[in-house]
Amino acid sequence: MRFTVAIDGPAAAGKGTISRAVADRFGFAHLDTGALYRAVGVKGGDPVLAAQTLTPEDLARDDLRTLEAGQAASQVAVIPEVRAALLAFQRRFARREGGAVLDGRDIGTVICPEAEVKLYVTASPEIRAHRRWLELGGNAAPEPFETILAQVKERDARDMGRADAPLRPANDALQIDTTSLSIDEAVAQAIAAVAARL
Ligand code: CDP
Repeated sequence: MRFTVAIDGPAAAGKGTISRAVADRFGFAHLDTGALYRAVGVKGGDPVLAAQTLTPEDLARDDLRTLEAGQAASQVAVIPEVRAALLAFQRRFARREGGAVLDGRDIGTVICPEAEVKLYVTASPEIRAHRRWLELGGNAAPEPFETILAQVKERDARDMGRADAPLRPANDALQIDTTSLSIDEAVAQAIAAVAARL
């Protein structure tokens, strides 16, 4: 069976948590496509070459979730040749046997427009920055909340404003605004949407 769940949305909206829960619930494979861009961003050197030669070791680095890696990712993500180099791998993953969940920015619009379920997960910038601040250790986070909020907004603007594969909801995406939803409520909405199509 081929069945793709495309989950897109801005930074720290809850895509990762929802994706993992949906993948676990239905036994689908999960690909965090942001990790591909983060790995290219932190590898250094020519980003196009980095994207063309990405290895499993690059994806296993333990510094991919830092703020710097997120900023570097959104900078290399505007380069069309970088996106092109990562396209085939993501498409193959999306249509693999047994079902797949991919989360990112352009899964429902560019990578897999034929996905059986498309979700667009959002939340206010303040809530998203607060979640990222907590994820980075709260009071022990390397940057104060205000800096993280500014970076979230900067990344949103770059991701939504770029010419190639900008972040936007697919026309047929179900929107889930997690600003005032608990994790369990957001996950329940996503699981219900998938169950309705299976
Ligand atoms: O985890 P978070 O939501 O903060 O970001 P991420 O999903 O790890 O993505 C990091 C950056 O990679 C994003 O800000 C985008 O610029 C880029 N990205 C993209 O362009 N397309 C994707 N499918 C996934 C990520």
